[in-house]
Amino acid sequence: MKFHTVLSTIFIAGLSVSTASIANEAQPIVQPNLDGIKIPKNYKNWPIISISHRTDNKTIRAIIGNDIAIQAARSGSTNPWPEGSILGKLVWKETSKTNWPTAVIPNPDKFIHAEFMYKDTNKFKENETNWGWARWLGQEQKPYGSAKDLDQSCIKCHTPVKGQDWVFTSPIKLP
Ligand code: HEC
Repeated sequence: MKFHTVLSTIFIAGLSVSTASIANEAQPIVQPNLDGIKIPKNYKNWPIISISHRTDNKTIRAIIGNDIAIQAARSGSTNPWPEGSILGKLVWKETSKTNWPTAVIPNPDKFIHAEFMYKDTNKFKENETNWGWARWLGQEQKPYGSAKDLDQSCIKCHTPVKGQDWVFTSPIKLP
């Protein structure tokens, strides 16, 4: 191995160690919800499946997915979504750009909640959707709800899209 290759290998190894430790430090400890569901690790780096803007409550939402969900979304095999898919939705209050008011954007200081659907038929058969459902509120990521069976309110509202495997979002198409 040439000297400069050795040097760059050491440099790259050092870089990945330091990025890993930065990521760990930045990760707050988030409690599981009352149904025992944990917030997915690394969801902050997941790619986008789609975006939505709710004009009634003035919020912007990013719909994201883990590797399995992204692969399904990009290849159009989403009914049913494959086992192991996790879909996420991140919600911010909207604002507009001061120097371009017609651009409606998420307000970076007003994170409302993160919520997730976990496709795991064995684990979540009982609720008849085959998905686990969980939400964490605000910047402090407080588990949502004060009683067990938190999934019931989620499932009720997602019932109109039962025929689309309980999912509202149609994945965006990329060129
Ligand atoms: C008042 C109705 C309502 C309730 C209650 C609700 N959802 Fe949704 N959910 C929606 C709609 C509508 C969308 C479509 C995206 C959008 O416009 O925000 C959505 C989208 C999602 C998505 C992105 C995938 C998809 O279906 O499009 C996830 C993940 C999600 N919801 C999880 C949850 C969880 C977890 C709960 C319960 C804690 C919950 N939802 C409760 C209406 C609801």
